[in-house]
Amino acid sequence: MYTSFDETTLDKIVTLLKSHQSEFLSGEKLSKSLSLSRAAVWKNIKKLKSLGYKIESRPKSGYKLHKNVNLLFPWEISDGLQTDIIGRKIYYFEKIDSTQNFALELAQKPHENGSVVIAKIQTQGRGRLNRKWVSPKGGIWMSILLRPNFEPAYTSLFPMATSLALAVSIEKTLDIQTELKWPNDVTINGKKVAGILIDASVESNKIDYLIIGIGINFKINPGMISKSIKQKNYGITTLVHKDQSVSPVELIQQFLLELEKTYNKVLSGTTGTIQKEWIKKSSTIGKNVTVTTTTRTLKGKVTGIDKTGALLLSSKGKVQRILAGDITYT
Ligand code: BTN
Repeated sequence: MYTSFDETTLDKIVTLLKSHQSEFLSGEKLSKSLSLSRAAVWKNIKKLKSLGYKIESRPKSGYKLHKNVNLLFPWEISDGLQTDIIGRKIYYFEKIDSTQNFALELAQKPHENGSVVIAKIQTQGRGRLNRKWVSPKGGIWMSILLRPNFEPAYTSLFPMATSLALAVSIEKTLDIQTELKWPNDVTINGKKVAGILIDASVESNKIDYLIIGIGINFKINPGMISKSIKQKNYGITTLVHKDQSVSPVELIQQFLLELEKTYNKVLSGTTGTIQKEWIKKSSTIGKNVTVTTTTRTLKGKVTGIDKTGALLLSSKGKVQRILAGDITYT
């Protein structure tokens, strides 16, 4: 049983305080605007402070909100979000097993196309190939539920499209250059900063749902994560360092917008540019690699990525098409 964070009173107080950020807002005004008692206002202010908001209280003057930089509450993401579908509903958890699992439950309900699930901490984050995904505080752990109306064949485009949307958003909001590593890792100087996991349900040649899971090492301690994973063949890095004060909200909003643009391209069948743009940002083409799939290990040289996102590997005189797996550069 999941109980997501749904606090409309807190949301309203934050909105009011934000609209008066250069001045104090009196407890009386807050209580009148929200039809709450003064005691209830005070209780909610205390709750907001415990959630991480910096609110100055002054006797006789009231309350003043100081700019916050790192809170991922639904109303923070919605405020300024430019999408039409993705993020219409946002669920937030302080702690959850996996946002992907919660999105799977949402997928059983109607009217959830575009819903976003975000958590501060995941206790059982899932990675690709049944690996665990270490998800401490400081990361962006998010799942997006989509119910697209297109051919199941297009499903394989989504990992590529999502990693591209993320790389573009990181560049636009943080001015950090990233590379894309097949199948869908986002890396900085060869070290992984984000990964994508897609759970899809296809029924009688129709997509029932797609759940896109995105894990971004936004502001984490890479050493701590490396220690707790068994997979040692790639390095891990963080997008933002611990002494930097950068908000994850703008990145999330930009990413949801870029993803929606791509989603619309797929819906209208104009997908040609996705593969080209992915290849432009990729560090994989032309590399000698070892590929590990669930059934075999292969060595060869990457000659391309096809339109569906499959890896084209030249190995022992033949070009092989690999749909899923992991690569290490050799
Ligand atoms: C990978 O192995 O590279 C993919 C990692 C995907 C992790 C994200 S975090 C949010 C969502 N919830 C999960 O349990 N996994 C995905």
